[in-house]
Amino acid sequence: AKVGRFSLAAPRQRTDTGIPFVLPISPSLYEGPFPFAWHPVEVGHFSLDAQRCYCGDDHQLCYYAPPSSSIPFPRFDLLDGYHDRYVPWNEGLREGLGKVLKWIAQNNKQLQDKEKRQPLNVDYVTLRGHLTKVLTTPYETRQGWQLAVSLFCGTLYLSEIVPEAVRRQRKQCSERAKQQTYMGYKFEKYMCADTQNGTPDPSAVVNTHEAFCTVIQVQMGSHSLLFSAEVDCTDPQSPWPDPPGCYMELKTTRAMQSCAHRRNFYKYKMIKWWAQSFLSGVPRIVVGYRDDMDSVVELKTIKTASIPKTAKKLIGEEQNCWKAKVCMNFFVSFLDFVKKVVTTDDPKLVHLFEWEPEGPVSYTVHRDSEYTFLPEWYVKAIKR
Ligand code: A3P
Ligand code: MG
Ligand code: MG
Repeated sequence: AKVGRFSLAAPRQRTDTGIPFVLPISPSLYEGPFPFAWHPVEVGHFSLDAQRCYCGDDHQLCYYAPPSSSIPFPRFDLLDGYHDRYVPWNEGLREGLGKVLKWIAQNNKQLQDKEKRQPLNVDYVTLRGHLTKVLTTPYETRQGWQLAVSLFCGTLYLSEIVPEAVRRQRKQCSERAKQQTYMGYKFEKYMCADTQNGTPDPSAVVNTHEAFCTVIQVQMGSHSLLFSAEVDCTDPQSPWPDPPGCYMELKTTRAMQSCAHRRNFYKYKMIKWWAQSFLSGVPRIVVGYRDDMDSVVELKTIKTASIPKTAKKLIGEEQNCWKAKVCMNFFVSFLDFVKKVVTTDDPKLVHLFEWEPEGPVSYTVHRDSEYTFLPEWYVKAIKR
């Protein structure tokens, strides 16, 4: 049952104990300098097989194998196999934090804090995708989010709730949108090999359930975070041989003909690409530009760290260009907010943080409700 609601309608901004009810999102409030260095460290990895089953190994890791630059660029037909070699995402799957919890349960000796007697020596556990949404919130104008948070044995767990209406929308998306989703995955098949010295096999089945995931830990001021992130491939020739520096993100987008198109791309899409790769310390993004025939006709490697500067140059400050420091300051404020609000250690108590464009972040409190998300097997495994 819901035990309380705190939202914008609340007449006061703080409770008597000084805990804020809401967190505003206006970018102008977060203009201070970049708050903390962000040095993501890989502490582990796992694979998800064709049936989306967890394996504590790296067998799903792919190796970056771009076409030789000495021969003319081959057109990559991104719709090849769409009808006969495609296993689309099972929309019925609700795995939540399941996979990263499995990794923690199997590796938690290395994460224990014996002095504090805490089974898991981190403040927050979540998925990279959830953090990407938080990081870009000050500039998001379309899609809100809901994050369920539980405090358990001293660690805050953050898990996204996808409302039923959004799930329905996803299921009913257009044929074209389905094709576009396929094309992103198909690009990976043209660019990556299964083995270190192998060559790509574009005749292989595209199975969206297969993945290699890195487990990242970051210390940021007084906050420590642990999250998993799906990795597209590793570059055996990377100048930064250690993970996550050797990882590469692959992306596809329409080839751009006009300055206006490029500006829009940097304003709305690139912020998401930047946030995703920045959070997990992936230094380079390889972009496949596709033409009107849905073939990749050009490749370009972009340095993640250079994206905010390029955005500023293209969009211009007076045009409300997004800023990395605003994203980061908001991000830290959100983590502070969650830590202040959620103080009762109970895996069945959920604080649901909600945000819709234009409004502030607010929260509601739920005990033993449909929002409870920490599985019993995990609670038992950690308490042992
Ligand atoms: P593109 O980003 O090239 O379109 P990721 O880029 O994060 O590795 O994801 C791989 C591909 O999965 C994406 O390729 C896209 O096709 C698909 N994808 C990821 N997130 C999606 C979403 N929210 N909706 C639809 N497709 C998505
Ligand atoms: Mg990916
Ligand atoms: Mg990708």
